[in-house]
Amino acid sequence: MGLSRDACLTRTVQESLAARLGPDIGVACTTPDGDPNDLYPEERAAISRAVSSRQREFAAGRTATRKAMVNIGLAPQPIGCGVDRAPVWAAGLVGSISHTRRICIAAVGRQHEVGGIGIDVEENLPIPMDIWSSVCTAEEQTYLVSQPADRRGTIATHHFTAKEAFYKWQYPLTKELLDFRDIQITFDWDRGRFLVHPQRKLQYSKCPRPVTGGMLTTEEWIIAWVFGPHPNPINTSIGAARWSTQLNASCTKNTHPES
Ligand SMILES: CC(C)(COP(=O)(O)OP(=O)(O)OC[C@H]1O[C@@H](n2cnc3c(N)ncnc32)[C@H](O)[C@@H]1OP(=O)(O)O)[C@@H](O)C(=O)NCCC(=O)NCCS
Repeated sequence: MGLSRDACLTRTVQESLAARLGPDIGVACTTPDGDPNDLYPEERAAISRAVSSRQREFAAGRTATRKAMVNIGLAPQPIGCGVDRAPVWAAGLVGSISHTRRICIAAVGRQHEVGGIGIDVEENLPIPMDIWSSVCTAEEQTYLVSQPADRRGTIATHHFTAKEAFYKWQYPLTKELLDFRDIQITFDWDRGRFLVHPQRKLQYSKCPRPVTGGMLTTEEWIIAWVFGPHPNPINTSIGAARWSTQLNASCTKNTHPES
């Protein structure tokens, strides 16, 4: 029996992400419908009171993460869950998990190689105009209305996704909660990249600036990620060298998103 359409799409996304994220980051894309029986006892305990759909979603994230670990030669291991719901990684590991109705994505790496990781996936659907002001700064809204009317809503979704990825990247060490308008995003659509511009003094600002992220847009999903030396880095010497390389290719322009 052949693969379902979603399974094919999921595999294609995993291949594209692996190519974009590079060999130091393990990535795995799976169905969001995981099996709670695959969880380690401590993971199962963390989710035992949740409704079954949430248990399956949580299990998908843990299972995808273990696949991502294997993809970069790490032994599969449990991933804790903080009271704030953020994953708790074993010493020396960093990672990020995201899920939507149809896909689950996990990315993991060694802290000394990649610093930190934040990844987010959203359905490729427009954000309604009345929500834009909650997600976008005034300047981002000005940019939105300068774009073709039929693309504005999905560009707003790109803003949302990029901000969520950035949030997940900075949170593990800063524990700082951010509002969507605390940061501003500019896109380099041609290169599938974005720049993060802080709008107030943020904890992460000890990092080299500007922080850049990557994006992959498919018909179904918008995926954004940020990785690199972390706020308050513990040991990011290797990551810092790679990060400098990324900065050299930083993005500055806003043109149309890829179709
Ligand atoms: C945490 C948050 C970013 C998750 O995003 P989401 O689109 O709702 O859901 P996703 O499926 O993409 O991500 C959920 C996963 O993120 C991870 N996560 C949860 N809290 C996290 C945090 N504080 N930091 C990093 N990762 C976190 C978890 O692994 C979770 O999956 P799991 O519970 O199954 O393990 C979001 O719910 C949130 O709290 N946002 C508030 C802060 C914010 O968005 N500010 C504006 C951005 S600047």
